[in-house]
Amino acid sequence: MGNVTVTAPAKAILVGEHFVVAGCPAIALALDIRAKATAELLNEDVIEIVSKEFGIRRYGGKETRVEDPLYPVYLVVKEVLKLAGSNQGLKVVIESNIPPAAGLGSSAAVAVATASAVAKLLGLNASLEEITRTAYTGEVEIHKKPSGIDNTVSAYGGAIYFSIGKGFERLDVNFSQVRLVLADSGIQRSTGTLVARVLALKSKHSSVLDQVYAAATVLVENTRDALEREDFTAVGELMNINHGLLSAIGVSNAKLEELIYTARQAGALGAKITGAGGGGMILALCWREDAEQIAMELSKASTKVLMTSVSEKGVTLESG
Ligand code: PMV
Repeated sequence: MGNVTVTAPAKAILVGEHFVVAGCPAIALALDIRAKATAELLNEDVIEIVSKEFGIRRYGGKETRVEDPLYPVYLVVKEVLKLAGSNQGLKVVIESNIPPAAGLGSSAAVAVATASAVAKLLGLNASLEEITRTAYTGEVEIHKKPSGIDNTVSAYGGAIYFSIGKGFERLDVNFSQVRLVLADSGIQRSTGTLVARVLALKSKHSSVLDQVYAAATVLVENTRDALEREDFTAVGELMNINHGLLSAIGVSNAKLEELIYTARQAGALGAKITGAGGGGMILALCWREDAEQIAMELSKASTKVLMTSVSEKGVTLESG
């Protein structure tokens, strides 16, 4: 068999990040920004991972854990090999247009694309559920205890209503009237560290924060209703309220607030942190015709601004 190329989308959490870790629901959107994995059989007994950004790694199959951005990709490959009952040597080439460590689920998209490309290369007819599960192995390595929302939305595409333990539903929404604008704060952060900090604050001030978590649950349900009515004005208002709740649990900062207020003043329907916060990107929901102007205003305060749409396509076989 020749090469197999698969792509998978980035994600943005529309509402519910952090609260989702404690069992509340959240809604995530797949974005029109993709990661690509190309898998190829090798005659040697080795797993080779190649990335333009991080270089080439060769693994013999018995490695112990190493701190390396490509190690989680290797774990995903091993997991698929286990599923196929195979020891086949192979090479995976990763190319991603998704900015890393910015809250856009780049690692999950790479893991999903890799799992799917390797499965197809090995002739395994893996379900989306199996792809999501194998990709999660890589996410655990990176984020310690991730909710699983990133790999789920990257595999299935569209808008996903998700809660831990209860699974997910794909929402039927037409997003053609709106665009998403993302602006980078330029501040690097670790999801694992922020999640741990939020959980510590929650247990210290549980009598107060339990109410915030309860409000977040209602907020996500109301956002789901608003999406299903395609009432994007209400979705934007709920995003703004969600941002207030994220500030309450301590994951905003002055730079993120600057970007969020810039987007709102430029006419965004709603603007908030997306993902773990502390840095990374902000997400603004805009009417299609306003998006360019809002992106322009944001580019005065941010080094990287992306304008994108919701991707109905999840993991996709491109060739092979
Ligand atoms: O910033 P990201 O893309 O790593 O997203 C983190 C989202 C959290 O809800 C904070 C954690 C999680 O595992 O869902």
